This record gives sequence, structure tokens and C-alpha cells, in this order.
Amino acid sequence: MKSYLSPSILSADFGNLTNSIKAAEEAGAKYIHFDMMDGTFVPNISFGAPIIKAVRKDIKSFFDVHMMVEEPGRYITDVAKAGADGITVHQEACLHLDRTINQIKEAGLKAGVALNPATPVNTLDYLLPMLDLVLIMTVNPGFGGQKFIPYTLDKIRDLRQKAQEMDLQLNIGVDGGVTLDNISTIRDAGANFFIAGSAVFKPEDRIGENVQAFNKILAD
Ligand code: DX5
Ligand code: ZN
Repeated sequence: MKSYLSPSILSADFGNLTNSIKAAEEAGAKYIHFDMMDGTFVPNISFGAPIIKAVRKDIKSFFDVHMMVEEPGRYITDVAKAGADGITVHQEACLHLDRTINQIKEAGLKAGVALNPATPVNTLDYLLPMLDLVLIMTVNPGFGGQKFIPYTLDKIRDLRQKAQEMDLQLNIGVDGGVTLDNISTIRDAGANFFIAGSAVFKPEDRIGENVQAFNKILAD
């Protein structure tokens, strides 16, 4: 399957957000990852729909919104209106996950489900045919710049095997601690959609070079 990079703006300079995203886009990023956090589902607060809307007018890339919020169904309409192209919600944050996925699809967006490190992949067995993306969290969500958790590689392998058995072209994403050094190992395990925050947006003056370095590996 084709591999994609989705730079996470959580590690970008929020005071210079549009320019930082433009630097990533101009260097070849086709996706931009937005980490919404509510301070309840995760112990941190980031931003919501108004910020997504503010940067949308200057950026053409696919807006990949990762909602780390309790009961994200409450915000799908707002985030769709703000300009999201895809929304990923957490399995652990939705009491009625099937309904929430249908809400995302009815809004005309790509639908993904994220799994925390401790959540097994078989919780999605019945939903896989409905999903555009499963996002395997490779850190505990809430902060950028954390270390990749090694056992999550087994989850990626299990999920890829399951998707193949079901004959599904499922996008398997990874989020957290992805670097130029470990991305090939993660891809070999079966992932094809890579979120990277600090490894792209830090340092600020190397955003373009960082995107190019990732895309060079993913093009092989
Ligand atoms: C973690 C977020 C990630 C984060 C990744 O809660 O979902 O998208 O920004 O950051 P890095 O790549 O620095 O681990
Ligand atoms: Zn994320």
C-alpha cells in the first residue's frame, strides 16, 4: 500500500501556525494532522474548530483531525464546517462508536478510529469494513515529543493480518514517537500512514527538510 506522512501541528509554533503549515505543504506534505484535546479525555488542552477554520483558508492539504475529546460526536458538525477532510475519534471516548462513525460519514468525511496503547485491536473487528483509517496510538495521547512504545508494533502486525484476512485495503496509522530512525521498522510491521509532530516541526527552521527526509524514506 502507498505510504503517507501527516505532520502533527501540535509541535508547531502556534504563534506562526499558517506559515509553519505552509512550509510543510510546500515541501510536499499532502496531509496535516490536527490534535484536538479537551483536557478531560487527555490531560492537556490544545485547540478546537476555530483554529482549524482559521488556517483552512490558506492551506490546500487534507485536514486530518484527531479528536482526543470525550464524546466527540458533539463536535463533528463544527469540525466538518471548519474544513476537516477526515475525523478520527477514540474508541475509548465513544459510548456509541458505530453511531459516531456514521455521523462522520454522513458529514461527507473520511472516518477513522484511534486506539490507545492498552486497547486491543479486536475491539474494532465488526467495524473495520466501515473505516478509512485505524490509528494505532504509539504513545499515551496528550503530548508531543514522547517515546514510541515498542509493543504497539505487535498491534500493527495483528491489525494488518486481520485486514488482509478480511480482504480490506485498510489504512493503518501510527501516532506518537515516530522518527526518521524508526519509521522503516514501523512500516515493515504494516503501517502506511505516519503522524509525526516534533520530528517535523522542530526545529522550526527545518520543517521543509524534515518533510522531505520523511517522504524520501516513504517513497522507497
Ligand atoms: C499525541 C498526539 C500526536 C502528537 C505526536 O497525543 O496525538 O499527534 O502530536 O507528536 P510526536 O510526533 O512528537 O510524538
Ligand atoms: Zn494525533
